[in-house]
Amino acid sequence: MIYDDAGIFLPDTKSNLVYSRLARRLRALGMSSFRDYVVHVQSRSGRDERHHLINALTTNLTHFFREPHHYEIARRELAKEALERTANGGRYRVWSAGCSTGEEAYSLAITLLDAEPELLNRDVQILGTDIDSNVVETATKGAYTRDVVAPVEPRLLQRYFEAGWGPSCEKMVIGDDVRRMVTFKTLNLMQHWPMATKFDAIFCRNVVIYFDEATKSVLWERFAQQMKPEGWLFIGHSERISGAARQRFTSAGLTTYRVQR
Ligand SMILES: C[S@@+](CC[C@H](N)C(=O)[O-])C[C@H]1O[C@@H](n2cnc3c(N)ncnc32)[C@H](O)[C@@H]1O
Repeated sequence: MIYDDAGIFLPDTKSNLVYSRLARRLRALGMSSFRDYVVHVQSRSGRDERHHLINALTTNLTHFFREPHHYEIARRELAKEALERTANGGRYRVWSAGCSTGEEAYSLAITLLDAEPELLNRDVQILGTDIDSNVVETATKGAYTRDVVAPVEPRLLQRYFEAGWGPSCEKMVIGDDVRRMVTFKTLNLMQHWPMATKFDAIFCRNVVIYFDEATKSVLWERFAQQMKPEGWLFIGHSERISGAARQRFTSAGLTTYRVQR
């Protein structure tokens, strides 16, 4: 079911992980058997539970400035490109597909702004999407504990974050300049993408690890179609572009590709 809905392939070897993650859902529903749970999620009355099922089974590990070589490219290439493309009222659009709790999208916004502060006055937008509605909610709040912001350079932390207040008083909150550049939405990559936008760059990192080859191959092709000519695609450290879509991209560095014109 999770494969059909989300493209996530969980082999039998992951059964312990599945049981431990779903145990909380069973408790919440007052159910004592996994068999009853499966019957419930497959039934008409269990349709809402399918969202909880997906939220429970996604792996959301992320952190600020993860895989820093991509942010070096962003600082060196994307910031300059964004400045050029927005010079005469143009737009620059980046998609963090599978954004989890938002660290990737915010790290990118910080990198671009820090490299070219003028981008603050330009039409630059980063869209973060994820299938898991819980992480999208956290991303939208943009409030992170001190542990979570630990990988952020102190200079950047001081410049682009604010001390939290109210319920976030022990957290660091994304500052307005960065927040203005980033929006988040829930989106299942396996379904229709409502965006008319062609992206200048797509970050889809550490998302396809649980997808099978056929699913990945379709996804790479869809990304190619959703990008501007020579758009950048950044993928996770253990991922490679596979299948027919490989011909659509040229390598531009470690786990970095550009779509052909
Ligand atoms: C391990 S996190 C990676 C986060 C970030 N990209 C990074 O590299 O740090 C993978 C994310 O992909 C999301 N994901 C998995 N399957 C998805 C799908 N079918 N559609 C959209 N997001 C999906 C998960 O919910 C999870 O938040």
